[in-house]
Parts: sequence; C-alpha cells; structure tokens
Amino acid sequence: MLPHPFEPILGRALAHASDFLRRQPGRHVGARADHDELLAALRKPLDRQGDAAGAVIDLLASQGERGAVASGSPRYFGFVIGGTYPVALAADWLAATWDQNAGIYATSPLSSVIEDIAAEWLLDLFDLPRGSQAGFVTGCQMASFTCLAAARHGVLRRFGWDVEADGLCGAPRVDVVASAESHVTIDVALRYLGLGTRALRRVDTDAQGRMRADHLREVLAALDGPTIVCAQAGNVNTGAFDPLREIGEIANARGAWLHVDGAFGLWARASGAYRALADGIELADSWATDAHKWLNVPYDSGVAIVRHAEDHRAAMTSAAAYLIQSEGAERDAVDWVPEFSRRARGVPVYATLRTLGRDGVEELVDRCCARAEQIAALLAAEHGVRILNDVVLNQVLVRFDDDDAVTRAVVAGVQEEGTCWLSGSTWHGMAAMRISVSNWATSEEDAARSAAAILRVFRGLRSEQGA
Ligand SMILES: Cc1ncc(COP(=O)(O)O)c(C=O)c1O
Repeated sequence: MLPHPFEPILGRALAHASDFLRRQPGRHVGARADHDELLAALRKPLDRQGDAAGAVIDLLASQGERGAVASGSPRYFGFVIGGTYPVALAADWLAATWDQNAGIYATSPLSSVIEDIAAEWLLDLFDLPRGSQAGFVTGCQMASFTCLAAARHGVLRRFGWDVEADGLCGAPRVDVVASAESHVTIDVALRYLGLGTRALRRVDTDAQGRMRADHLREVLAALDGPTIVCAQAGNVNTGAFDPLREIGEIANARGAWLHVDGAFGLWARASGAYRALADGIELADSWATDAHKWLNVPYDSGVAIVRHAEDHRAAMTSAAAYLIQSEGAERDAVDWVPEFSRRARGVPVYATLRTLGRDGVEELVDRCCARAEQIAALLAAEHGVRILNDVVLNQVLVRFDDDDAVTRAVVAGVQEEGTCWLSGSTWHGMAAMRISVSNWATSEEDAARSAAAILRVFRGLRSEQGA
C-alpha cells in the first residue's frame, strides 16, 4: 500500500521536531544566526515552480536550529515566556491536524465542547464566579482587549447607552483608571477600543509597583460617570500584586467595572502557598490571563474571563444570515472572542489541565517560585549584587554594582555566554536584570547553573575593569 500523502512529510517533521526538542535543553539559549544570515539562508524569488515539500521542511528545520531562540529551554528566563509540556505540544499537533474552524459549534462541535470544559476547569482552578464566561484568545493582550470591550459595553449600558449600536460619538465619557505600573497592553487595548490613552487616570504605586488603594479612592471620588478600573495580579517586573480585596471593595462600592490583568499572576490562585497574594480577586468583573506563559502550552494562548455573560456576548458576538449559531447550550466561540474564524486553541489547554490535575498545576507554580527564590538567594550572596524586588512569585530583579552600565553589560554578557537567557528592564529609573521563571522543566540544577553563569559574567567584567 502506498503511504498516505501526509505520512512521509509528517514523519520528516516529527524527526526534526524530536531532534530539536532532544537537544534544546543543552543548546546555547539565544539564537545563533542573525537577520542577514537567516535572510541569506531562506530568501529567494518566489519561482513559478515550487520546491519539494521535504526539502522545504528540511530547510526550515535547519534554520529553526539557528534562528529560533530556545525559549522552551529550562534556562530561558526572558520576558515572561513559558515552555511547552509534551502533552500540550502533542495536543496542539492534533488540533492542527483536525484543522478545525473553531468559530462556531456548527464548524467544530469538538472544539466547542473542549473549550466549555477547559473554561469550567479554569474557573474552578482560579476560584472565580462559576457563572463567568471564558474566551480562548491569542494572549493576554487580546484577553484584556476582550474584557475591556465587555467593560465598555457594561458601564455604558448602565448609563443607558448602547455602544455596540451607537458607537462612542456622543456617548457618556468613560473614565479608565489604572496604576502607574499597569502593563502596556492595557494602554493598547484602550487604543483599540477608542477610549484613548491620554485620558487614562493613573493611580500611584508603592515601592513594589502595587497600586495604592488610598490613592485609588481619591481618584474615584472625583469621578461620577461610567468608570473602569484596571488592576494587576503580577507586576511584569516585580511580580507584586495590587491589593485586590481593597481595590475590589472600592470599585464595587463605586459601581465601577474592575478588570484584573493576571497574565501570569492569576495562576497563583492554583497554589495554596501563593493564593493569598490574589486575595479578593474574585471581586472583579473581568480577568485576563495567559496559558502560553505559566501553563506551558504552545503559543499562542490567552484567556478572557468575564463575570457578566450578557456584556461579554454583546461586545463580541457576530451574527450573519449564513451562520448557523446555536440556540441551546452549545458554545459558539464567536460570542466570546474577537476572532471569527479561529484555531481550536482550547485543545492544548484542556489536555494540559487534564494531565496535570489541580495538584500538578499547584506544583508547577510552587516549583517555578522556588527556583526564582533559589536564583535570587545565590545571586544575593555575591558582593555587589542587589535584588531589587521582594521575590514574592516567579520574578527577580537584579542590579550589579549599583550601576546602570555594569548591569546592562552583565545582561548582554549572559545573553552572549548562552548558558541561560534573560533580559533587562528599568525599575524606578535604574537598569535591572529581569529573571522570570516560567518553565515547567527548570530544575534546581538549571537554576544553580544559571546563577553561576550570571556570576561568572559579572566577575569577569569586574576583573576586566580592575585590570
Ligand atoms: C502583566 C502582563 N500583562 C499582559 C501581558 C501581555 O501578554 P501577551 O504577550 O500574552 O499578550 C504580559 C506579558 O508579559 C504581562 O506580563
């Protein structure tokens, strides 16, 4: 029997993928080829006749090895980027194989049911109001966009204005309040939503980047129209949580919509040891999070959760005569996400949650936080190294010789050296190294090796300077 047309090419891709994954933990963590080298290897005129599929896959695999950052490496600590659990990748392959248009139930009953179950599990894991709805989007940016679209609808509806029908021209002004430390994706969502960023009212933060509830109270006292408050569970630099219970009580008493950006911090709710950081988060109206960060599913995967299903649906739904939308209990994803046609993004989330169980997610969160503490302790023991934040979760901010140039040079040196990868940031006007432990596979040994590499680079710079 001749092989099925997919088999040889998929077999080839599997061999390349296995090779990549087997070698990833040991390889130089940064990319090894630059822009020009990648262009030289990959670019050619689009000929009338194409190349053989196998040759194309071989070419891609050869350049993936050089041009891809090993962000799945257990020693990748850049930005806030998770790796991929084996089961998550396998489930993602299945989702790609099924090639479902997961926009409505009629085009994929399978995806619809899987997303329903995954949403139910997430509400349970995060202990959020069980009647909330969840949409599976590309990441926390689109999760916040979705939640804030629902918020825009909800707060204006309460003032008698239907923004979906009548737009924003002539609408009551919507005030949006966020902390001075809110993530840039909140500003971007406000841009997308026509609410603008200039009018954003900023609430002061404390030394760890937490919103000051007393200042929020003052800011809200001066506002009386439709209002949205954006709080944060997990500052991208320090990992600090806004005082969510106090903020929730203030926002609720004022009738404001409270949105929480919990891109990675919402996962603290899955851990008995870290849950208290997010105490009161259930008082919010909407929550944005990522699965491609801490749950370690492949990119791209975020989740928008909204307490008020009617506002969520009103802001997102699409209806057209040719669509077959369900009238019963079946989920049509178009009701909960901005996309129309979309991939079955919930499948790897379902598979990973089902495989880990509640204990597995808790253990994942605890393990990453323990590794962050371990790295912070190893670095702090060195003369001239200062940890700038309280390491409350998985984020560590480090400064060297209390000097911007030295700190940036250590970051660049570590990236070049290749044992681990991390990035820099500016914290309260000071250059800092940012370490984010978000990968399921980071072991104690990986943390120790990485700290040793960082200190090696720092000591090397010192002896160069001394020489
Ligand atoms: C606190 C916070 N919010 C939002 C985002 C944006 O998430 P995404 O890149 O998945 O859109 C990030 C990403 O690091 C984040 O840390």
